[in-house]
Amino acid sequence: MDPLRPISEDLRLFVGRDEETRRYLVDLLSDKRALKVVTGDVGVGKTTFVNACQYMSYAGQSPDGFPFELPKLLPCFDKIQVREGNNLDVFFQQVMVTICQSIAYHCKIATIEPPTLVKEYLRFFLDLNIQSGGAGGSVGFNLPAGFGIELGGSGKASTPTSIKNIRHHLLKLVELSMDELRFDGISVVVNNLDILSKDSLLQFVNEARDELFDIPGIYWTLIGRKGIATVISTESDRVGDYLSGTELCLTPLKFPDTKQIIDRRVDELRLDSRPDAVCPLQEDMIYLFHDMSLKETRETLSICGEVVRRVIGVNPALKIIPREIAVSAFVQYAYERAKDLDLSESKVKILSAVWAKESCRPKDFANFDYKTIQGFNSALKVLSDKGILSVEEKGRARIYRMTGLTVLAAITGALGEEIRQAAASQMNKLSEPVASTMESEPTAFDEAQLSLELDED
Ligand SMILES: Nc1ncnc2c1ncn2[C@@H]1O[C@H](COP(=O)(O)OP(=O)(O)OP(=O)(O)O)[C@@H](O)[C@H]1O
Ligand SMILES: [Mg+2]
Repeated sequence: MDPLRPISEDLRLFVGRDEETRRYLVDLLSDKRALKVVTGDVGVGKTTFVNACQYMSYAGQSPDGFPFELPKLLPCFDKIQVREGNNLDVFFQQVMVTICQSIAYHCKIATIEPPTLVKEYLRFFLDLNIQSGGAGGSVGFNLPAGFGIELGGSGKASTPTSIKNIRHHLLKLVELSMDELRFDGISVVVNNLDILSKDSLLQFVNEARDELFDIPGIYWTLIGRKGIATVISTESDRVGDYLSGTELCLTPLKFPDTKQIIDRRVDELRLDSRPDAVCPLQEDMIYLFHDMSLKETRETLSICGEVVRRVIGVNPALKIIPREIAVSAFVQYAYERAKDLDLSESKVKILSAVWAKESCRPKDFANFDYKTIQGFNSALKVLSDKGILSVEEKGRARIYRMTGLTVLAAITGALGEEIRQAAASQMNKLSEPVASTMESEPTAFDEAQLSLELDED
């Protein structure tokens, strides 16, 4: 399930987040050089949210009643993916390519010829990337289908001959965006900072601060795990001073919003190619899947999509999927997802502790069958990289919470019989056709977390 892109067709599908949108847009006005930090759990809708905000400032569409005029910023249609081990040079290149591709894409929408300089830069950097064997996939190139642009012409670009002075080239791009394309600046988004270790994160922001974050005309947004703004401001005063306001942490969408996301997508299908399209899932089934996914939007949409695909695939005439059939397709899907998790006994122990809301210290590693603290930490990292746990930095503690994937694994018994029964009873409770449950927010999974105190490290 890809995030919505910062283009009008996708933004029609964007639901909710009114309060957060206003906060983000006000931040955009407050201080041109400030770094905005957007955080939240896996699949909660961070990239989609930032894309929606980017589109608003690009298209000059502020929310109803928004009292200020937004700066017109060129959005980076492609987000920059940081990777552990990449240095600032790689990041520089990614920023150059992302901005050039976005300018080119903007020119395509506006049916104007991309500036020659932009074409030259792109040829240079794409060539550079190919010659260095793809630079370990370091340069973004995640533009969705149809975003590619024709460079035309052939031969090598003459500029820049060196990437040493990229700051100078970035300044040129900002100038070009303002003077030729009439933007007030460029919005650059750095995605997935959550995959960096705390040390790498700090090293990255410290290095980028002097070279990049103070370039006038570039508005930076960093997307990552909960708590990173606090980590940055407490551990690096120099960068902390650049942060705008507080971290914008996206909380999971409430059920009515999730339901509306699905309704909008069905409406779209109806307008598009399927005039008779209806959602074959009953509302209480969507509610069940929303809850079993811990309200992660991506997970909820994939469960709903999978259940519909599986059932309607073999029975296309079915208009409404009966409850028991929806539940059994869901359980079958859970088994398939859990199959690849490859959980060792010691990892199951960690997940059971998370389920039981325990807290512990790294020195408790032996209780989890690990020989060293490092082994224990790397097991936690594997679990969070696989999306079975989510992580939050909280002062000196790190909090691991379960995710929708943990619940899927639980249902299949991968975390042991006791937890399977607990998950099954929660599922049975929710799949009863009782409309009243939909009013209240269930709490059975809400707090499950393992909190680690890091002082002992
Ligand atoms: N407010 C929203 N309106 C409509 N769709 C949404 C909304 N938020 C999220 N989605 C949908 O949910 C899915 C997940 O969203 P997205 O990729 O933005 O999450 P994320 O938090 O960036 O995930 P990750 O942690 O993996 O980076 C996407 O398919 C997206 O289209
Ligand atoms: Mg994302």
